[in-house]
Amino acid sequence: MENKSLGQEREQWATRFGFIMAAAGSAVGLGNIWRFPYLAGENGGGAFIVIYLLSVFVVGFAVMLCEFTIGRAGQLNSIGSFRKLAPRTPWWLVGASGILAAFMILSFYSVVAGWTMAYVWQTLSGAFAGANPEQLTNMFVGFITDPIQPIIWHAIFMALTVGIVVAGVKSGIEKWSIILMPAIFVILIILIIRGVTLQGSMPGVSFILKPDFSQITGSVVLAALGQAFFSLSLGMGAMITYGSYLNKNVNMPSSALTVISLDTSVAILAGFAIFPALFAVGFEPAQGPGLVFMVLPAVFDTIPFGVVFGTIFFILLAIAALTSAISLLEVVVAFIKDQYNVSRVVSAVSIGFIIFLVGVTASLSNGPWSHIVIPWPGTAGLNLFDFYDYFTSKVLLPLGGMLICLFVIWYWKPQNAFKEITNDGELNFGWLPAFKILAGVIAPIIIALVLLYGFGVIGTAV
Ligand code: PHE
Repeated sequence: MENKSLGQEREQWATRFGFIMAAAGSAVGLGNIWRFPYLAGENGGGAFIVIYLLSVFVVGFAVMLCEFTIGRAGQLNSIGSFRKLAPRTPWWLVGASGILAAFMILSFYSVVAGWTMAYVWQTLSGAFAGANPEQLTNMFVGFITDPIQPIIWHAIFMALTVGIVVAGVKSGIEKWSIILMPAIFVILIILIIRGVTLQGSMPGVSFILKPDFSQITGSVVLAALGQAFFSLSLGMGAMITYGSYLNKNVNMPSSALTVISLDTSVAILAGFAIFPALFAVGFEPAQGPGLVFMVLPAVFDTIPFGVVFGTIFFILLAIAALTSAISLLEVVVAFIKDQYNVSRVVSAVSIGFIIFLVGVTASLSNGPWSHIVIPWPGTAGLNLFDFYDYFTSKVLLPLGGMLICLFVIWYWKPQNAFKEITNDGELNFGWLPAFKILAGVIAPIIIALVLLYGFGVIGTAV
């Protein structure tokens, strides 16, 4: 009986444009504007960005197209699609790893999204007016280490996420994304213009544009590849789930390319919005996760109507995070609904609550629980917040992405995949043989090498 209402879930995107905006809504989020700039800042700037771009267009494209293909052919959630395409094999474990990743990512993601909402109020109330970099740093650190404040905002953000998923995603996501994507571009461009016209901003521009290749080490490559997966929402079934709502006429290769290009341009624009301003106001690039929260208030303070722009910026960031968070929750909810025959409401509320609880541990680990440390190769040990982030972006997502490519090309057999990718031969996809080598050989080898390095199995820093 419940199953009838589930029929709604298999509804299709209204338009190709709506689908692209939804997939881009999943991709564009905190990963682009919060995470990308601070990773670039920690990993040598331009050199990191070059490796990132290679990861995105070589590996990311292959994985995204494979995910769309599995989802549209399987017409089910990430585990269900694997089960349908490869019955009685262990391939469903790839989907299961994606579900674990969704739990871990959303838990810390929602905490950061909560920070952005708190910063909306702080900016609006003028809390940052006249503050110098040191004061801004203290305010940020004071806020995120607080045992209560960030958890309240995290709860509000999870409630919003659950609310939208309960209401049914499509009209929500499609509508919001169509308004938001252009808005994000406009705000970023205003910030860039302000940033590069500040005195002393040029070192920031060359930090991005002049790659210093001596900075590239194995760990920089791992960080760049992990960021590519995270930013494109790959390796954990989000794009399989969204692909399952696709109709058979949509051109998946060109859609994948569009989504990737949109996502990458937002990340690069965020870099240009932040680094020139950062150098101008006198921060160091390697600020870690606080980067956006400490630098941008200083920039807004120098702009006429800075309070307005600052408020709008953090609102946009929160909503961009929301369209990503929805896709993370949807991965789990789609599975629970399909599998256990419970309603959307029950599954979204209960899963949302569990993720909220895991998120509480992530938030506390920045403050009262910072003594809980998980050993991790190449680091002095990670707190829970960092562990959820590292373990997903540097292990689960790349591993998932590699297996997804191998599945499509080697297990499922390319002729099935090609039939799906070319819409039964209707699309003229002349470079299919090249794609087969890309997804079946090149991408998996790159991912495997980077992963082995990450586990410390091969080599030391290049
Ligand atoms: N891509 C999102 C971002 O960049 C995060 C995300 C990861 C969303 C994985 C869904 C799946 O913010």
